[in-house]
Amino acid sequence: MNSLDFKISDSDFQPNPGSILLRLLNQIKHTANSFAQTYRLDLDNLKNFLSNQESNFQPIFEALVSHPGIDLRVLFKPDIAEVVDRKFGRISKVATMSAERSKLSARVFERGPEDSKKIPFYTYFDTAVQPTSPFRPELIEQLKYSNGDCDLENSFFNHGHFEDQMTLFLGETNLHWKEPDGRQSVFKASRLSASYKIPFIPHTFTSRSNNPGQILAVTYLGPIANPIFLDTARSHSLDDFCHLIRNYEPSPAPDQPAVITSNVVQTLSSYFEEFQSITLLEGIPDQPNSSIMLLQLARGGKTEQSSKSNHQWLYNISDQTVIFDWDQSSFEMSPGSSIAITPETCYSLKNIGKMTSAIACFSANPGEGDALKQAKRILNFAGPPAISRLLNENCQWFS
Ligand SMILES: [Fe+2]
Repeated sequence: MNSLDFKISDSDFQPNPGSILLRLLNQIKHTANSFAQTYRLDLDNLKNFLSNQESNFQPIFEALVSHPGIDLRVLFKPDIAEVVDRKFGRISKVATMSAERSKLSARVFERGPEDSKKIPFYTYFDTAVQPTSPFRPELIEQLKYSNGDCDLENSFFNHGHFEDQMTLFLGETNLHWKEPDGRQSVFKASRLSASYKIPFIPHTFTSRSNNPGQILAVTYLGPIANPIFLDTARSHSLDDFCHLIRNYEPSPAPDQPAVITSNVVQTLSSYFEEFQSITLLEGIPDQPNSSIMLLQLARGGKTEQSSKSNHQWLYNISDQTVIFDWDQSSFEMSPGSSIAITPETCYSLKNIGKMTSAIACFSANPGEGDALKQAKRILNFAGPPAISRLLNENCQWFS
């Protein structure tokens, strides 16, 4: 069915649909401008919808249907969401994206104190994504150099985002974030360093080499994306909900750090027969299934894997091609290609290159974790404004 034939009326939406769409655009790392430009939309019409003013949703809906990895259901009341899902859900067991297609999605975002002083800061690239998966992954190149020893200009930081984030660093790169008192912290990462951070922490990344840095920024819908939790949260005023969070006493107490960093690169073994799997990141509080693994295959090496109960997201970080087989299908995973895998999928990987290949494998289990405990961490770290954004997004992830 053509989405033009599917008419939507104002009464079909959840309350505050502009806020929901803003969150969806943040998740796919598009601004109103970049999304309108990509799909030739009327920017004013899109901005009107985002601010809950009178607008024509139909062309916006067309664009949302065309874009991979948007969970359209969240915009609509349950009965309409079910129809939308049936007609436009596009769920497949495995979603792939070639490196060539990923490169076509390149978009540069500027950052800086004011328009005249903004500089090209990042290039974003889309990767394989499933609309029902928790993952909203991007390859991001850092165009700004920093040795990591000095504080950065404030406007280089984003405002944080609703999603949890696991990051894999592919080169000499810095992760900068802001502490609750506004002080800046930095993690000087090397190739295969990794990090995790809770939602709504202002952060940014810079390159520590003369070339652009590269990271796999895998934002994902963590504990606070639980729809029952969000419905309950929205039934309270901001003050009442903050009060409820403060009085919540989970066990163990939510005193884990808001940012976790890991650097196992020195312990990597380069001697193995056919296949080895190395944990690059684990130990995220209350999320035993969230991890980053490195799957290494020797020349001609093969391995059988299963996503088990997790969603997985794979990215070829090596310069060797790997064949990904599942069911009766096959995908040639050239360097820079990516794959999103739904739970309970069995697959195999075979290295057909002449050297060792390396696949980054991110896993997460939707809904895992204690949402109120996570909200308490967010309130402690980022304060009531972040809880307000948790209830209703009112902010693009950077300005
Ligand atoms: Fe981020």
